[in-house]
Amino acid sequence: MKIYIVYDSEGGHTEALAEAIAEGAAGVAGAEVFVHDVKSANVYELADMDAILWGCPGHFGTISAGLKAWIDKLGYLWAEGKLVDKIGAVFCTTATEHGGLESTMTSLITPMLHQGMIVVGLPGSVPENATYGSYYGVGVTCPVDQKEPISEKGQALGRALGVRVAEVTRRFARR
Ligand SMILES: Cc1cc2nc3c(=O)[nH]c(=O)nc-3n(C[C@H](O)[C@H](O)[C@H](O)COP(=O)(O)O)c2cc1C
Repeated sequence: MKIYIVYDSEGGHTEALAEAIAEGAAGVAGAEVFVHDVKSANVYELADMDAILWGCPGHFGTISAGLKAWIDKLGYLWAEGKLVDKIGAVFCTTATEHGGLESTMTSLITPMLHQGMIVVGLPGSVPENATYGSYYGVGVTCPVDQKEPISEKGQALGRALGVRVAEVTRRFARR
């Protein structure tokens, strides 16, 4: 099964989260994971994927312009129904705890639903998510005075989302 991860990241925080998600997904048997900065991500590769994750820094509570511009290239895939039934999941980072993580994630989910994708969140039964995370995907606060791009807890959440997406995809994928 093929899993495609696209991220926008100006300062490396969202990139670090994307890498944690990829690490989690790659640990699931049968998963082939592709990770791309939005600048190099190729929309023509998506039709061949079983699962697609996209994520960005929250910009004023919603999708960053860089990722939105890329998502807006997916019109032809929508017109042909090419992403229908693909598994989807989202992720983001913000600088402050109440800086719009969940509103950014719901914004990221909306275009997936328009494409007919099956959106996977992170349930509370996932141990890493029980007391710290979110149900909408993975959103991590990355304070600007923090030394690491992303906390260990944030990385654990990222890996957990990667595992969850790969395990759900395995149930749906025909290869
Ligand atoms: C234009 C702009 C708007 C932003 N808006 C918010 C915001 O509303 N809330 C917040 O907590 N952080 C906000 N940030 C900070 C980023 O979301 C945060 O630093 C993020 O972790 C950066 O991720 P990156 O290093 O992957 O680019 C904003 C940053 C920019 C450049």
